[in-house]
Amino acid sequence: MALTIGVPRETLAGEKRVATVPEVVEKLIKLGFRVAVESGAGDAANCSDDTYRAAGAEVIEGAANLWAASDIVFKVGVPTTEEVGLMREGGALIGFVWPAQNPELMQQLAAKKATVLAIDSLPRTLSRAQKMDALTSQAGVAGYRAVIEAANAFGRFFNGQITAAGKVPPAKVFIAGAGVAGLAAIGTAAGLGAIVRANDTRAEVADQVVSLGGEFVKVDYEEEGSGGGGYAKVMSEGFQQAQREMYAKQAREVDIIITTALIPGKPAPRLITAEMVQSMRPGSVIVDMAAERGGNCELTEPGKAVVKHGVTIVGYTDLTSRLSKQSSTLYATNLFRLAEELCKTQSVKEDGTLDVNMEDEAIRGLTVIKNGEVTWPPPAPKPAAAPPAKPAAPVVQAKKGGHGAASEPMAGNKLAIMFGVAAALFWFVGANAPGAFLAHFTVFVLACFVGYMVVWNVTPALHTPLMSVTNAISSIIAIGALVQIAPPLAGGLPPDQWIRWLAVGGIALTAVNMFGGFAVTQRMLDMFRK
Ligand code: NAI
Repeated sequence: MALTIGVPRETLAGEKRVATVPEVVEKLIKLGFRVAVESGAGDAANCSDDTYRAAGAEVIEGAANLWAASDIVFKVGVPTTEEVGLMREGGALIGFVWPAQNPELMQQLAAKKATVLAIDSLPRTLSRAQKMDALTSQAGVAGYRAVIEAANAFGRFFNGQITAAGKVPPAKVFIAGAGVAGLAAIGTAAGLGAIVRANDTRAEVADQVVSLGGEFVKVDYEEEGSGGGGYAKVMSEGFQQAQREMYAKQAREVDIIITTALIPGKPAPRLITAEMVQSMRPGSVIVDMAAERGGNCELTEPGKAVVKHGVTIVGYTDLTSRLSKQSSTLYATNLFRLAEELCKTQSVKEDGTLDVNMEDEAIRGLTVIKNGEVTWPPPAPKPAAAPPAKPAAPVVQAKKGGHGAASEPMAGNKLAIMFGVAAALFWFVGANAPGAFLAHFTVFVLACFVGYMVVWNVTPALHTPLMSVTNAISSIIAIGALVQIAPPLAGGLPPDQWIRWLAVGGIALTAVNMFGGFAVTQRMLDMFRK
């Protein structure tokens, strides 16, 4: 007997998403589930009852009937008290729950002897979990939509244009926070032709910013901003001061600011002050994605778009719902992948019951209540192989006016000694080596220098295609084999037939390297092209 997945109509005001879409219904049925959808559940996401029926779902009238018919309920929004009341005793729920923020809801669900998988509690660092990561898929949609909202409120083009009516400069966009939403916003704004700059406290995202077409703007202060697990930490007062100065400069220069800065479990960091807003050109736009958590901008009004000092400040908290078909489709796919995992990990039994497998790391992380027993928070993840002990952390030091940085003169001295030794070595070789060697040596040294300069000036994101094209170019060795195949010069000895055939084999192998190398490079470069 197959388990029935039920999809109710979302009840929170303004929520336009739905937990599954017709395309995914078909896949769930293939997986062995039955699907029931409340009538009208997909209306706001352009999924009519008929399309669900055509996909094989049963459409049920009324929330009470739907909840009663469901073994597992797929939901988007956090369930309300009324919805928990409709839930079947011992039923299962999969969706956003935020257990830390909703202790009462957890109690209500536990009292129902429910099994609850909170998609927000997914261990995101597991690579196997990425396909189920609804926080990522939804933040990506929100980042995209934030740029569209900015473009809507902005009175100019994003890209620079030269028209008969005059020259239009490209818009300048600054993105604060380059996490999931920030990176999506960078890609979208760069795709529209704007000049994009971005900042994040985690230095490791700089390459990602560049590979999406943005410029990473550093804060002039050395401090590591990573708090582990891909999240940020609260920065020191010194850093924050330096960051404020940099943000104030950006505010004066750019046309659009999109803020996405977030530190889990903390109120949103205040990055854009009222004075910064005032310093922006009239007609500029700020989209504050952190509005729900208090906002990254001092003047944001959550849920609204307001104009202050001539600057439009957009504080919408429903950016994903404003692109409901897209966000619902991605969310539905995340839940489908989770359903697949439930089957693979034997959580769905052959007799059609659900008994979540707590041995599986991903499923364990997601399960916040099992058969009425609260299992949240999960135990700390097993530590990975211990990294080699780091030397004592260096004292954090401002770069500004960096006199007295004791290590700098030392570094300068070392460099001078190294240059001195190298110069002496070259003089010795030049004075003593035979002429023929010297010619080859000069070419070798110049080749090293040119190679170094070329590689170090290539964006790190392009290092892999660079390696592959270098590999293809190394097929120049084919010349050696060609010489062996060529007919002998007048008066020369005919080459040994064995050598000829070996050369033919050599050319065939090198050709694979050559053509394959260029083809692979082309495919890699195509991924970077729009
Ligand atoms: P994330 O955790 O992936 O990214 C946040 C980024 O902010 C991180 O890269 C972090 O290093 C950076 N950050 C933290 N403190 C910073 C600081 N002081 N200065 C510069 N960067 C800093 O989070 P995600 O998923 O990208 O979400 C971003 C924001 O968007 C969150 O506030 C989230 O609640 C919000 N959001 C809003 C939606 C809406 O409808 N308005 C929808 C979805 C997400």
